[in-house]
Amino acid sequence: MGSIQLINLATVEQNTQICADHHLIILKDNGVTSAATRPGQFVNLVIPQRPDLFLRRPFSVAKTDPEKNLLYIVYRIVGEGTQAMSELKTGTKVDLMGPLGVGWHLPESPGNSLLIGGGCGVAPLWGLAEYIADKGGRVFTVLGFQSEDKVFGEDVFKAVEADITVTTDDGSYGEAGFVCDHLEASLNQSIDRAYVCGPMPMVKTVIPKLLEKDIEGEVSLEEIMGCGFGVCLSCVTEIEQDGRIEKQRICTEGPVFSIKEVKW
Ligand SMILES: Cc1cc2nc3c(=O)[nH]c(=O)nc-3n(C[C@H](O)[C@H](O)[C@H](O)COP(=O)(O)OP(=O)(O)OC[C@H]3O[C@@H](n4cnc5c(N)ncnc54)[C@H](O)[C@@H]3O)c2cc1C
Ligand code: FES
Repeated sequence: MGSIQLINLATVEQNTQICADHHLIILKDNGVTSAATRPGQFVNLVIPQRPDLFLRRPFSVAKTDPEKNLLYIVYRIVGEGTQAMSELKTGTKVDLMGPLGVGWHLPESPGNSLLIGGGCGVAPLWGLAEYIADKGGRVFTVLGFQSEDKVFGEDVFKAVEADITVTTDDGSYGEAGFVCDHLEASLNQSIDRAYVCGPMPMVKTVIPKLLEKDIEGEVSLEEIMGCGFGVCLSCVTEIEQDGRIEKQRICTEGPVFSIKEVKW
C-alpha cells in the first residue's frame, strides 16, 4: 500500500518519560492522520519552537486510537530535535506530515505471528500486535533491552495476551542476554510470519535465524532522512527483487521490507 501524504496539525495530549531511555508523546489530531495511519508507517514532525531545525524529524507511529483521534509515538532523545520534543507541554500544536511509507503487511488471517523488537524498535510493533490480536491471530514476542530501567511497552503486549519473552543484556530483567539468544522457543511455535524492528546489530543476528527456518518475515529499516517523501534520495538502500538488485527509498518503498529482499 502506498503512502498518503498529508500535512496536519495535532495537539500534544501527553508527553512523558516511560523508562530511562524513552518518552511517549500522544498527539490528538482532527481524525484524518490518526485514521489513515497503518501499523509500521511513520510521520514527519516539525519541532515547534525550533524553526532553526530545518528538516522535519521522522518517527514511527507506535499505535493509533482512531476513535479518540490519537497517535502514539515513542522516542529517544539523541539530539536537539528530540530534546526540544521532550519539552513540549500538553496543548502545544505540532505540525505533522503523514502517514508516510509502507507499513507492515497486514494479513486478513494472521495466524501465529512473531514480533521481535529491540529498544526503540519495540514501539512500532504495538499497533501491529493490536491488529493481529483483533484479527484472531496469536502474538509471540521477543523484546530486547539493555537493562531493567530501559524496559517499556510490555503492557501493550500483555493487553493482547501475547506470549512475551523479555531479554536484557545485563540480566537485570527477564532473560539474560540478547534477543537472538532467546528466539529458539518462539521459532518452534510454527510461526506464520515474523516482524522485526530494532537496532541493526540485533536485526543482523535475528534475520539469518528466520531465514534458516524459512520463515516469511518483514523488517522495518531506519536511515537518516532528508525529505521523508521520496524526493531527496538520501535514504536509498539495496533490495533484491526477482534476482535483480534495485535501489529503493526507505521512506517511500519502505521502511518495511521483506527480510528476503534486503541486501545485508
Ligand atoms: C522511518 C523512521 C522512523 C523512526 N522512528 C523513530 C521512533 O519511533 N522513535 C525514535 O526515537 N526515533 C525514530 N527515528 C529516528 C529519529 O528520526 C531521529 O532520532 C531524530 O530525527 C533525531 O533528531 P534530533 O534532532 O534529536 O537529532 P539530530 O541532531 O538530527 O541527530 C542526533 C544524532 O542522531 C542521529 N540520527 C538522526 N536521525 C537518525 C535516523 N533517522 N536514524 C538513525 N540515527 C539518526 C544523527 O546521526 C546524530 O548522530 C526514526 C527514523 C526513521 C527514518
Ligand atoms: S528521505 Fe528523501 S527520498 Fe527518502
